[in-house]
Amino acid sequence: MPSSLRPELKNAKKSFVLRKGRTTSAQRRALKYLKKQHTIQLGEDKVDFSAAFEGSPKKLIADVGFGSGESLLYMADRFNEVNFVGIEVYPPGIGSALNQIEQNKLTNLKIIESDVFDLLETKVTNETFDAMIFLYPDPWPKRKHLKRRLLSEDFLNLLYDKVVIGGLVFCKTDWGDYYTQVKEAVASDNGWLREDLTNLPEYLKSLPQTKYERKALIEGRESRELLFRKTPR
Ligand SMILES: C[S@@+](CC[C@H](N)C(=O)[O-])C[C@H]1O[C@@H](n2cnc3c(N)ncnc32)[C@H](O)[C@@H]1O
Repeated sequence: MPSSLRPELKNAKKSFVLRKGRTTSAQRRALKYLKKQHTIQLGEDKVDFSAAFEGSPKKLIADVGFGSGESLLYMADRFNEVNFVGIEVYPPGIGSALNQIEQNKLTNLKIIESDVFDLLETKVTNETFDAMIFLYPDPWPKRKHLKRRLLSEDFLNLLYDKVVIGGLVFCKTDWGDYYTQVKEAVASDNGWLREDLTNLPEYLKSLPQTKYERKALIEGRESRELLFRKTPR
């Protein structure tokens, strides 16, 4: 069934609550003046990523929920042979990323301000991304909130549609049961092949420590990583 018709996704609870967070004046300025150059604006049709990157035929990697953008900016700055798309709903984080794209004159990074569910379901053609990255997706640790976790089985099915054959999904989390949940969902689907972490692409090696990761370490939670590849079902 095409993912756009999957009722379970339509009815799913949002995987985020928009934090108020303080927006600095620099972030506010970026949100006002830099969106036109560095974001992909969503319209009625599917996103034309080739046009967004002016026809550049590079591989396309999505960083979903990039937060303040430390890892995303690190990757885009060092690996300009790859195009990156950052998908986020949190305006201060988007403002910071826009400022850094401008300061570093990056042409291989665009931002999309959207809930990734809606975006993938309605605006992204199948087999678009060469890789999709999820660094510390919101953990929703309370039992009553588990359904809000982004990387549910249904969402993994939607990802399957949007990644190219041979494409990668990378996930890093500091919550043991979230790691197990994703690992088991991947193992139960013969379309995904678990990859050894020694096969990490260069851009995922030595990512900087983010604010979120530092907090996890201070609170004594160890991070674990999963890498899996799309194969024909
Ligand atoms: C815990 S933070 C991690 C941020 C960053 N990746 C890091 O490693 O520091 C999770 C981020 O995912 C974003 N997020 C959660 N659900 C999302 C969704 N459905 N679509 C887009 N972004 C989402 C949140 O706004 C938040 O910034």
